[in-house]
Amino acid sequence: MKKKTLEDLQVSGKKVLVRVDFNVPIIDGAITDDNRIVQALPTINYLIEEGAKVILFSHLGKVKTEEDLKKKSLRVVSERLSELLEKEVTFIPFTRGPELEAAIAKLNDGDVLMFENTRFEDLDGKKESKNDPELGKYWASLGDLFVNDAFGTAHRAHASNVGIASILDSAAGYLVEKELKYIGDTVDHPERPFIAILGGAKVSDKIGVIENLLTKTDKILIGGGMAYTFMKALGNNIGTSICEDDKLDLALSLLDKANGKIVLPIDVVVTTEFSAEAESHITTYKNLKDNEMGLDIGPKTIKLFKKELKGAKTVVWNGPMGVFEFEKFAVGTKEVCEALANLKDARTIIGGGDSAAAAIQMGYADKFTHISTGGGASLQFLEGKPLPGIDALADAHNCADGNCDH
Ligand code: 3PG
Repeated sequence: MKKKTLEDLQVSGKKVLVRVDFNVPIIDGAITDDNRIVQALPTINYLIEEGAKVILFSHLGKVKTEEDLKKKSLRVVSERLSELLEKEVTFIPFTRGPELEAAIAKLNDGDVLMFENTRFEDLDGKKESKNDPELGKYWASLGDLFVNDAFGTAHRAHASNVGIASILDSAAGYLVEKELKYIGDTVDHPERPFIAILGGAKVSDKIGVIENLLTKTDKILIGGGMAYTFMKALGNNIGTSICEDDKLDLALSLLDKANGKIVLPIDVVVTTEFSAEAESHITTYKNLKDNEMGLDIGPKTIKLFKKELKGAKTVVWNGPMGVFEFEKFAVGTKEVCEALANLKDARTIIGGGDSAAAAIQMGYADKFTHISTGGGASLQFLEGKPLPGIDALADAHNCADGNCDH
């Protein structure tokens, strides 16, 4: 069912509660990647221009101790947002109470306010994360309308998304709309050939994604740590490479189901220690020694993957090809990223997480059709599973159902 979008709401002069996902990486008090904030700007700017009173909120990390209250404040995020908007953002360091309510009451049309990390409410009985009905009701009482632009949190059923959406009239923000379009519609109705590239450490994280994409794609190229589980299942010695021994049968059954659609690496960069400076060399999967581990795909695999990608019209990429945090073992990930960035006439989608960070870090952000802001959410979506944060939003009016009064 299609959901209401921003234009379906009359926002002018209204107090609009906006759930964003500003769960951004922060090191020593500084934001190291503001992409999630940047991606929410179209929705926030639209609401400002339409004269709404904009009330923003997000979670930031997990909040389990009193110490987290000091470390996980959204203040620094509100300051970055204010710079990006070139506009004052009033920050209220509370998740409820008279100060927050008074600040909301003072808002003029077009003003922006942000309140504190919604997971501060988790310290006392996990109220936010368990979708406590009283908390959802309280937050809903602070506004007239609800907009959810937090795609990264859409796989959670929390008070700040599902709780509020079950009370107020609501709509998807522009970012959520964009994510649904690219990860949903494109994957369901791809132009072919449609290739998926999957990497990352564990097969167990991607079982559902592989199973779902096997029914939709023409090929699935597998690299990264999870390739070793497949290689071992096929009888290769993978030395000390990362492997999920309890998933060997599963890997074989996926290969069986794939009927030739899964393409595995043919060579690998190996080393004897897990470190950025480790001595390394290239070998085939058949020749790993007992004390060697693979940390990247090799040049023949890169060539093979590039050949498979030639002429692709739709590509979804999720998960790095090796330990890209170590420069020396980032070659496979960089080459795949570059090959995708240079594909002509193709829809290229990065399904969030580490591969999104890699593409942004390598300066290719604007070369992709879409880079998802979701990690767990995009994986769940690629598995073809529902997203509670989206499902809870108001359904769009359907003029085809015969009850159209427009
Ligand atoms: C993410 O970073 O994947 C989202 O912000 C969700 O965060 P969570 O896993 O802490 O719920």
